[in-house]
Amino acid sequence: MKLKFDYNNMMDSSIGAHGIKKAEIDKAQNAHAAAYADVIDNSGKGWQEWTETPMISDKTVDELCAFGKAIREKASSFVVLGIGGSALGPICVFNALLHLHHNELPAAMRKAPKLYVEDNVDPERMASLLDVIDIKTTYLNVITKSGETSETLSQFIILYNLLKKELGEAAAKEHIFVTTTDGKGSLYNVAKKEGFKIFGIPAGVGGRFSVLSNVGLVPFAVMGVDVKSMLAGARSMREACERKDIYANPALMTAFLQVKSMQAGKNISVMMPYADGLKTMADFYCQIWAESLGKAVDKAGKTVNCGQTPAKSLGVTDQHSQVQLYTEGPYDKVVTFIGVEKYGATVDIPQDSADVGNFLKGHSLNELITAERKSTEYALTKAGRSNFTIIMPEVNAETVGELLMYFMYETAFAGAYLDIDTFNQPGVEEGKKATFAMIGRAGYEEKLKELNSLVKNDAYIIG
Ligand code: PA5
Repeated sequence: MKLKFDYNNMMDSSIGAHGIKKAEIDKAQNAHAAAYADVIDNSGKGWQEWTETPMISDKTVDELCAFGKAIREKASSFVVLGIGGSALGPICVFNALLHLHHNELPAAMRKAPKLYVEDNVDPERMASLLDVIDIKTTYLNVITKSGETSETLSQFIILYNLLKKELGEAAAKEHIFVTTTDGKGSLYNVAKKEGFKIFGIPAGVGGRFSVLSNVGLVPFAVMGVDVKSMLAGARSMREACERKDIYANPALMTAFLQVKSMQAGKNISVMMPYADGLKTMADFYCQIWAESLGKAVDKAGKTVNCGQTPAKSLGVTDQHSQVQLYTEGPYDKVVTFIGVEKYGATVDIPQDSADVGNFLKGHSLNELITAERKSTEYALTKAGRSNFTIIMPEVNAETVGELLMYFMYETAFAGAYLDIDTFNQPGVEEGKKATFAMIGRAGYEEKLKELNSLVKNDAYIIG
């Protein structure tokens, strides 16, 4: 494992009364054993098939990469259609591993098509996309686990229709490949009928735990991401997360510390990477943490209404926006910093004759961003605020694979400590059904009646 996890500042030895005592960790041996068993003994079973996603053979990876390369060489633009767990994994990996201005690079430097991950149905966004892509040389990866999601299906219909108009039906089909549950769902049936290439998602891999399945691997292969190193990183984190001793298992330890903090009223979990390339890693974390842990009932059906609200923050940018609140506001947060030891570039601040900022001259932006992260950690710790730091030696395919796997294990362990169903999302499903009803899908007539019966009092509407 290349990542390091420093949880000193969660402990009373660093932050005083608001910290956790070592004795509390040691006393909870039964809880650790139960959480461990819930995740590790069920590894690969039921909804925990995600633990197996990095275990695919090199041969399968080679085939994927060959497919990806063929698309990469002929596409001017590559458009990924998906939402939630079917988009956030690809988004955060591309953000971390591609050039930060990938689409603006000159073609000769880009080495891969322009990339668009479309995870909203804002009509303006779709219209804007159509303004910048050449549909004739655009390739689409439609990703939906259920094959039923309105957002993704609507985008697919629009773009397939355009492709057919421009290229004719036979050629248009060559521009679409679909990632969905094998043998199930509307999109699978259409893909079979139309003859699109299909990449399967195993039945027991849920959306937000699917980044290392074909959901992520197919688009990564197209964009030339080093998939083998990413999977190797994920496997090494899996090994660390299978350690029984909580003091050696980063996901078990931080899940316990988070749950303990949550139970002490720290209901907000801030994810604060100090790297622009990791900005959307915070989005990935926010989704997996929110959708997995925000639950009404525990496994026994008892009302618990649990969860910790995730918030994203970017270092150093949000030091000038949110850190005041983190340092002096309510004691209701745990802040996770992600630090990078070696950035992908070194930028020196030159000696210059302008008589301003003399203390900065001769240093580098690398030194400055690191000093600012450590200073923020210091300020929070001094103010008695719970925080811990994940250190990445550098951001590359291997460490990103580790980080993603860590987030998945940490979430699974946290759900196990809370004794909830980590892998369902009844609240999201309710909204999906209401959308089907409102848009007039057959079979949802009762739901529509229910929606129409909701009383809106005009007296409570302003304007
Ligand atoms: O994590 C989840 O299960 C959700 O966020 C889904 O990924 C999201 O709702 C999209 O669903 P689907 O992949 O079925 O289109």
